[in-house]
Amino acid sequence: MSEKSEKQEDIIKMFNDIAKTYDLANRVLSMGIDKTWRKKACNMAYNFYGKTHIDRIVDVACGTGDLMIDWETVAKSNGIIVDDIVGVDPSVGMMEVGKTKIPHRTFIEAGAEDMPLEDESADFISISYGIRNVVKRKEGLAEFARVLKKGGLCIILEFTKNDKDDFAAGLTKFYMNNLMPHIGGLISKNKDAYTYLPESIEAFITTKQMCEELNEAGLEPIFVKGYSLDMSTTFIARKI
Ligand SMILES: C[S@@+](CC[C@H](N)C(=O)[O-])C[C@H]1O[C@@H](n2cnc3c(N)ncnc32)[C@H](O)[C@@H]1O
Repeated sequence: MSEKSEKQEDIIKMFNDIAKTYDLANRVLSMGIDKTWRKKACNMAYNFYGKTHIDRIVDVACGTGDLMIDWETVAKSNGIIVDDIVGVDPSVGMMEVGKTKIPHRTFIEAGAEDMPLEDESADFISISYGIRNVVKRKEGLAEFARVLKKGGLCIILEFTKNDKDDFAAGLTKFYMNNLMPHIGGLISKNKDAYTYLPESIEAFITTKQMCEELNEAGLEPIFVKGYSLDMSTTFIARKI
């Protein structure tokens, strides 16, 4: 097995291990703000797309299905009909939790870098707090471009590496490096997983680099915004 494949396998195993406590840890660690970040992204994407009938949304790295639920509820509140919302994730444990929350939806066990989905079959491809875990990220973005319809939207929410050197950035880093591993570790009984979180953010690319990679994949960024002291960034890119 190559080094990249081994690293990817370790990440998937880690999510399988923390699946049952993932939602609780998320709510506590973000003080519930993560729900707001996801909902805002959904509203924004529906507004940009402007259609009232959407065939298919694919949520990659769907985990326990929170963003899939938001695609559904935000569509309803905006009078938008979405025929199909599909979740894709290589962690069976995470999707098992998701299936209990939205049993009427389809979940597919696969990685972002190789999805068993037809070319140009999705209106939206979303990935919240998942792209950081895709070891073959460029292959993943190329897959998003392949599966998206022309004019379709790619919606990414992520904790990007903060290259600023101001008070807010320092505060965020302190919280992530010093408090998160302890709180997350207590809830999940897996401190390593919540030590991986700040480390993977630090090792991740910046917002500017993310935009460059999106452009290289043929996905043109049309909206980029940081929320809550730039802790979370939302990218919306359109397939050219
Ligand atoms: C932090 S969770 C995010 C889950 C969910 N999207 C959310 O917003 O809560 C990251 C997810 O990425 C998934 N993941 C890891 N490697 C992946 C890959 N190569 N392709 C797709 N998803 C992957 C994990 O299994 C995990 O469910």
